[in-house]
Amino acid sequence: MFVRCPRSKLSVWAALCVLVLCWLYIYPVYRLPSDKEIVNEVLRQGQEWKKNQTGIHLFRNLLKVCCDPRKMFAVTKENSPLGKVIWYDGELFHSRTVNNDTYPLFVQETPLQAPLKRCAVVGNGGVLKRSGCGRDIDGADFILRCNLPPLSKEYTEDVGTRTHLVTANPSIIEKRFQNLLWSRKAFVDGMRAYGASYIYMPAFSMKPGTEPSLRAYHALADSGSSQTLLFANPDFLRSVGGFWKARGIHAKRLSTGLFLASLALGLCEDVDLYGFWPFSVDLEERPISHHYYDNVLPFSGFHAMPEEFLQLWQLHKSGILRMHIGTCPSAPA
Ligand SMILES: *[C@@H]1O[C@H](CO)[C@@H](O)[C@H](O)[C@H]1NC(C)=O
Ligand SMILES: *[C@@H]1O[C@H](CO)[C@@H](O)[C@H](O)[C@H]1NC(C)=O
Repeated sequence: MFVRCPRSKLSVWAALCVLVLCWLYIYPVYRLPSDKEIVNEVLRQGQEWKKNQTGIHLFRNLLKVCCDPRKMFAVTKENSPLGKVIWYDGELFHSRTVNNDTYPLFVQETPLQAPLKRCAVVGNGGVLKRSGCGRDIDGADFILRCNLPPLSKEYTEDVGTRTHLVTANPSIIEKRFQNLLWSRKAFVDGMRAYGASYIYMPAFSMKPGTEPSLRAYHALADSGSSQTLLFANPDFLRSVGGFWKARGIHAKRLSTGLFLASLALGLCEDVDLYGFWPFSVDLEERPISHHYYDNVLPFSGFHAMPEEFLQLWQLHKSGILRMHIGTCPSAPA
């Protein structure tokens, strides 16, 4: 026997509405252009590019207001004094208080004080293969790379050899170096490829990432390495995430490449991007591998690479940064 009660019916409808709104917020209904449409759009634009000094200043100011990259990108003694509670950006309600164990590991203040002239941000896309962009990349004043990419001889022509900052995901420490619980030699030797660069680790993003990051710090310090380990500041990662979310990126988490591009846009006069091409074909519609060094696909749904690409492409078209897709002009024929 059903008794009709308009009041409860109303609240069911209200609940449904809220659900639908939440759903739309998380999975907005809009259509991303297909890979082919994006390829065509990039081909239409061609090599045409003109620097937009006003746009560069405007964008740098936007980033300064939201995220203050210069002060905030790393955890420092200045922005994270003893007793400060660091809230993880990749976990709900997980924090760690800066204490006498961790505080001494932080740099005093953010390095990279001086204005940087031309920065090259190198993504690891398969489009770099046979690009001949190595010389172009090595000619930059500050070179940022993602996730400890291989820089061995066979790749030099395409990706260059110099590095000033390289990110290292704690999961790599776990997978490639047995979490540094056994030998640290392989790790320390492997890091030599990056010269005297900064190693940038998101140690306070996910709970399981902290211990491997701290071990990586000690492994480098104990070996007398000339490299400086910087811990990514979760406040910075969160604010940059919010900045791009407001501009329409709906991923759970930004890719490392977009974090680095944001950092470069906040710090450098000129920003060149290489290897940012998340599609399975190149501009001549030849199939390409996922990375320049392998074809291992990531989990789907975690990052929104085509969406990120379109944002960066927009900045390319307005002359705020320069994307290099395909071969570099200085490439040997
Ligand atoms: C330069 O950048 C500004 C800010 O993004 C933009 O409004 C303007 O259209 C750009 N100019 C050109 C020529 O693209
Ligand atoms: C931390 O180290 C400082 C200086 O070495 C010392 O004065 C302070 O008592 C220590 N604090 C704790 C909680 O151990």
